Amino acid sequence: MENKELIQEAIKAREMAYVPYSHFKVGAALLGKNGKVYLGCNIENAAYTPSNCAERTAFFKAVSEGVLEFEKIAIVAGKDKIETYTAPCGVCRQVMMEFCEPQEFKVIMAKTPEDYKEMTLKEILPLGFGPKDLG
Ligand code: THU
Repeated sequence: MENKELIQEAIKAREMAYVPYSHFKVGAALLGKNGKVYLGCNIENAAYTPSNCAERTAFFKAVSEGVLEFEKIAIVAGKDKIETYTAPCGVCRQVMMEFCEPQEFKVIMAKTPEDYKEMTLKEILPLGFGPKDLG
C-alpha cells in the first residue's frame, strides 16, 4: 500500500479521537505484513494516566487479533486541523520496538497525504531495547 493511502486512513482514524481534555486529535493507520490496515485514535480519560495514544490503540487492536508483523505506520495529529508533523511518544516507540524490525519499520509523520516525513524506527529510537536484548 502506498504511503498516500495509509495517510488517508490515518486522517479518517483521527476523526474518532476521544480527546475531551487535550483536544489534540491523533490518528494512526498501521499496515500489517498481512496487507491489512489497523486504525487507531487517542482515547483520553478523566483520570488522565489511563489515556492511550493513537499508535498504541492501532498496535493493540492488531495484536489482539493475532497480527504480530508490521510494515509501516502513518500518523496525523492536531487540534482543529493537522498543522505539523507529529512524532510518536517514547512509550509508543517502545511498543513499536516490541513488534517491529527497527531498520525496516517505517514511521510516516504526515501533514497531508502528499506532505510527510518518513523515518525508520531505528532512526527515531536509536539504541532501542527490544525482545532480542533479553537474550
Ligand atoms: N498522543 C498520541 O496519541 N500520539 C502521539 O504520538 C503523541 C500524543 C496523544 C496523547 C494525548 O491524548 C494527546 O495526544 C496529547 O498528548
